Amino acid sequence: MSLDITEVRKSFTTKSGPQEVLRGVDLTIEKGEFVTIIGHSGCGKSTLLNVIGGLEPASSGKVVLDGFRVEGPGPDRAIVFQNYSLLPWMSVYDNVVEATLSARKDRSADENRAVAEKYIRSTGLWMHRDKKPGEISGGMRQRTAVARAFAVGPKVLLLDEPFGALDALTRSNLQQQLIDMWSKEEETETVVMVTHGIEEAIFLADRIVVMGNPPKPSVAEVIEVNIERPRDRAEIARDPEFQRVRERLVYLLEHELAVPEPMEEAA
Ligand SMILES: Nc1ncnc2c1ncn2[C@@H]1O[C@H](COP(=O)(O)OP(=O)(O)OP(=O)(O)O)[C@@H](O)[C@H]1O
Ligand SMILES: [Mg+2]
Repeated sequence: MSLDITEVRKSFTTKSGPQEVLRGVDLTIEKGEFVTIIGHSGCGKSTLLNVIGGLEPASSGKVVLDGFRVEGPGPDRAIVFQNYSLLPWMSVYDNVVEATLSARKDRSADENRAVAEKYIRSTGLWMHRDKKPGEISGGMRQRTAVARAFAVGPKVLLLDEPFGALDALTRSNLQQQLIDMWSKEEETETVVMVTHGIEEAIFLADRIVVMGNPPKPSVAEVIEVNIERPRDRAEIARDPEFQRVRERLVYLLEHELAVPEPMEEAA
């Protein structure tokens, strides 16, 4: 399997005319890779994930997964959205179980329930399984969305800042679960994850895709992270390779790709 993104462009029509959000994105992700995407707010990370997921059509260019062109959403790709998008009328339990039942018809219903329950437990939600999304905290909603994606077990897992709203402890727990799942799991082979966290991006990834802002909204640089696995969270910051990658990322994000003009909302 590989995921081939070729010359992807995306423009949106806005009141003030067309806005080019992605220009000529070229990227090949191999089977089994863990890739993180980092870049300033508004540079098109979520848009790229949505194009890979088939939720947004590219304006031109193509995305090919396993030799098949992506033309829409499919069970081979699951997205955890930035806003988690749970079904508000369903309990935590049903949000996870129903997703597996509809996406994984190759498994029996009992099997789907067992896998769903495994991830509801491992994300620490078992006690809250009967509550609806409106009755749990933001972090719990995020964990529900993560449990749902893990339970579906897609070939390619697309994660849009899945741990953004979590406290540090839950965040590192879930990072570890994600790594465990990716390294052991028979089903989820490849992970593409958007993050704003420099350290998270390095700790998790085989390669980091750094996205640039307008006027060049595309892949600015791809950085390999040559740190052996399993990686030790406590030790990794002392690794010279970690320090090299962190310095490069800080340089790119704070200097080379610094946001050219102040954002309108900025105080
Ligand atoms: N449906 C849409 N219609 C019009 N413009 C859009 C749409 N979706 C995204 N955009 C614009 O595309 C640009 C990139 O948005 P996107 O959500 O991909 O950024 P991002 O890199 O994920 O940012 P963040 O880090 O804040 O999540 C933004 O300027 C946004 O306003
Ligand atoms: Mg985004």
